[in-house]
Amino acid sequence: MKYGEEHHLKVLFTREQIQARVAQLGEAITGDYRGAGELILVAVLRGSVYFAVDLSRRLEIPFVLDFMGISSYGGVSASHGIVRITKDLDSNIAHKNVLLLEDIVDTGLTLNYLRRNLQTRNPASLRICTFLDMPARRIVNIPVDYCGFTLPDLYVVGYGLDHHERYRNLEVVAALK
Ligand code: IMP
Repeated sequence: MKYGEEHHLKVLFTREQIQARVAQLGEAITGDYRGAGELILVAVLRGSVYFAVDLSRRLEIPFVLDFMGISSYGGVSASHGIVRITKDLDSNIAHKNVLLLEDIVDTGLTLNYLRRNLQTRNPASLRICTFLDMPARRIVNIPVDYCGFTLPDLYVVGYGLDHHERYRNLEVVAALK
């Protein structure tokens, strides 16, 4: 695939860098959850699917992979934090360890909503693992337990992140100019 046919893309993380970091996260999560009871990985559709697949392959503990679909009202970015659930979990998470997998924590509004929603279902624990974190853009404070890479205020694409549905399938993360 050609990068940046229409947009100018600047590669920030290569495929190798991403895979190495995901392997480290997998090791850390494996260590933290070994022997800790049932683990449910909740991947937030659609951006985190690529990350969830790669990360889950690095776990050496049993888990259930489940999905939650969300969309912001009006299709605009979740600037008001009003989120609609388009697909709910298939699993009952009560008394289980839940690890929420996100592509990116930007304003934090989406995760804040999701976290509060999942908390009401009485999980044994609820942690957040995000591939990318942009703390400079945060509006609500979100506890991030595991993070792949921290970035300054940029618009990034690739490895699941899109720009009008494009560039999700890039194996690199790039800044869109
Ligand atoms: P929030 O601002 O933390 O609520 O982020 C909401 C969602 O917006 C994320 O899960 C991403 O899907 C999307 N998003 C935020 N920043 C970016 C970006 O830089 N590139 C692509 N998608 C983004």
